[in-house]
Amino acid sequence: MQAYRVYPGRHPEAIELFERDLPPPAAHEVRVKVRAVSLNYRDLMVTRGSYPVGSDKPLVPTSDGAGEVVAVGAAVTRFRPGDRVISSFFPHWIDGQPTRAKTSGALGAEADGMLAQEVLLPEDALSAMPAHLSFAEAATLPCAGVTAWNSLFVEGALKPGDSVLMLGTGGVSIWALQLAKAAGLRTIITSSSAAKLERARALGASATINYVEQPEWQEEVLRQTGGEGVNLVLEVGGQGTLARSMAATRMGGSIAIIGGVSGFGGEFNPFALITGAKHLSGIFVGSRSMAEDLVRFVEIHAIHPVVDKLFPFEQAVAAYAYLEAAGHFGKVVITLD
Ligand SMILES: NC(=O)c1ccc[n+]([C@@H]2O[C@H](COP(=O)([O-])OP(=O)(O)OC[C@H]3O[C@@H](n4cnc5c(N)ncnc54)[C@H](OP(=O)(O)O)[C@@H]3O)[C@@H](O)[C@H]2O)c1
Repeated sequence: MQAYRVYPGRHPEAIELFERDLPPPAAHEVRVKVRAVSLNYRDLMVTRGSYPVGSDKPLVPTSDGAGEVVAVGAAVTRFRPGDRVISSFFPHWIDGQPTRAKTSGALGAEADGMLAQEVLLPEDALSAMPAHLSFAEAATLPCAGVTAWNSLFVEGALKPGDSVLMLGTGGVSIWALQLAKAAGLRTIITSSSAAKLERARALGASATINYVEQPEWQEEVLRQTGGEGVNLVLEVGGQGTLARSMAATRMGGSIAIIGGVSGFGGEFNPFALITGAKHLSGIFVGSRSMAEDLVRFVEIHAIHPVVDKLFPFEQAVAAYAYLEAAGHFGKVVITLD
């Protein structure tokens, strides 16, 4: 059976195919035939050695997969062969607040991940996938989907009619746009590309801003919101965007600190938080319980997450390069027969 392994830090030739044998499932384990894997920006960070959490030893990369149960251990009660399942980013964070123990062993960084023909996982590390989705679509839930859900509705606690700003049109932002639209939120999204903003409008974005043509895009967000700013920003930009995101947030609003595609670090003025009574909130993907809530919501609203491009398993290296080039809109997915 084939799997990829990643050598953290050996970018750009960090991943290679290898042969791997799996033992029969232990009492509480499930063996899954992986049918699709979605890539996240974090998987690029692992190849570069810049992901802050994880192993420096080679391991099977990626956190997000969907597949079919092919065998279960003797004590497994949650699944049986034939069930269609998705992975959990954190195999031990089932519900409640995060702890160090619950967020240890993240797939594809600290423990072997999903980029393999078959995987063995604890039954608690899996959820049933949304019934109406293809494996490729379902593979986008565990990291990007759950992160967007947690930011909007758990940490962000938004309600219908609230306003939210997404930065760029990558995996987390487009997931958030689709969820926010279905939940009756006012959505504003930025991009460097007019063509991508056109696609965002087709998905229902209330307002779009080209952050290259309008480098002071926070002023346009304020204009779009009657001078007040949005209730929540999904901050994926990092040092290049944080100060503007804070300026684009209304008094009492929140900035969900998610990522740093323009780099981490930089400085911000705490008075902007104090005098605006604004909240910064760190987001670390989410729990299985959040994933299950997301699955229900996605089924009720018949949401199909946006998959930009599919790559066959043999071309996983090309899929990584495609993600890194950042021409995508939504998610990049690797499929297995
Ligand atoms: N904390 C967590 O739990 C968590 C979970 C998931 C992801 N993340 C982090 O969130 C970030 C996004 O992840 P992802 O997987 O969604 O990435 P992705 O799909 O690779 O998104 C990349 C997109 O970011 C946009 N972008 C780049 N520079 C930008 C800038 N200066 N301003 C606004 N947008 C910019 C671009 O959109 P356009 O092409 O439209 O300009 C680009 O296509 C990463 O830093 C990732 O590590 C964190």
